[in-house]
Amino acid sequence: MKAENQNDIVVIGSINMDIVCRVHRRPEPGETVLGGEALFIPGGKGANQAVAAARLGGNVHFLGRVGNDAFGSQLLKGLRENQVQAECVKITDGVSSGCALILVDDKGENSIVVAPGANHRLTPEDIRETETLIAKAGYVLLQLEIPLETAIEAVSICRRHGVFTILDPAPAPLGGLPDSLFRVDLLTPNQSEAESILGMEAGDIMTTGARLLEKGAGCVVLKRGAEGAMVFQGKNALPVESFRVDAKDTTAAGDAFTAALAVALNEGMEMKKAARFACAAGALCCTRLGAQSSLPFRNDVDRFC
Ligand code: RIB
Repeated sequence: MKAENQNDIVVIGSINMDIVCRVHRRPEPGETVLGGEALFIPGGKGANQAVAAARLGGNVHFLGRVGNDAFGSQLLKGLRENQVQAECVKITDGVSSGCALILVDDKGENSIVVAPGANHRLTPEDIRETETLIAKAGYVLLQLEIPLETAIEAVSICRRHGVFTILDPAPAPLGGLPDSLFRVDLLTPNQSEAESILGMEAGDIMTTGARLLEKGAGCVVLKRGAEGAMVFQGKNALPVESFRVDAKDTTAAGDAFTAALAVALNEGMEMKKAARFACAAGALCCTRLGAQSSLPFRNDVDRFC
């Protein structure tokens, strides 16, 4: 059930059809391996976060683009079935919907290649057209499977309206992260994304958090997978314990985490408690195969916590 007195959560980002195949182990360069059946499962970091936030009780709008094709229709239907408001999703001629090719091995670890398709047609102008919706949102969530200039415009509109902005810098851009994208209210990278956007060698976690704050992030929640998370806020660095699960597939665990964090903050939880709730959502997501197929519902997370 949706809470009446909460602000809207707007997710701006990618939406993909994931083509998932289980393999015993992921192939070496030049190697062919035989896998299980090919499964078609809705995904995309943006859409995953939108669906996760809605399942956890948020009032969610999604802004993105799909192609004018069968995957596009299926993906939109999936959003609506999950109570995500998708009126602002544009159907784009002449380009396919985003697709991701995902291999999941026996350890539950994955390799993902994204063919962005329509996601890369999401323009700064698209975001400007939805300024009224963004202005009245409580939280805006962004990731980086859309063009960087579009994410930059979204952050700038959020700042203008004082809307709390969360950036999941995934995937980390090859050319580095533009300065304005560090200056969001909350950054939620994992350790390797954090090192990549800072252009630093593998370093210790305290240095990583401190450097992200120096770059202008209001707060940093570093996702540490099975190790939980670390909250960096002002001078504080607060470890957050994870939950132990038997991981079958880690796909979308980071998306479930970020979405849960937004929902919890929107409900007034303080950051460390919100991060613990997010760890629970991420852990539960790892217990099932696929992206949106594995995103937990609110009852599951509350019971698990
Ligand atoms: O974070 C997981 C997601 O990454 C998958 O659903 C895939 O579509 C890629 O975007």
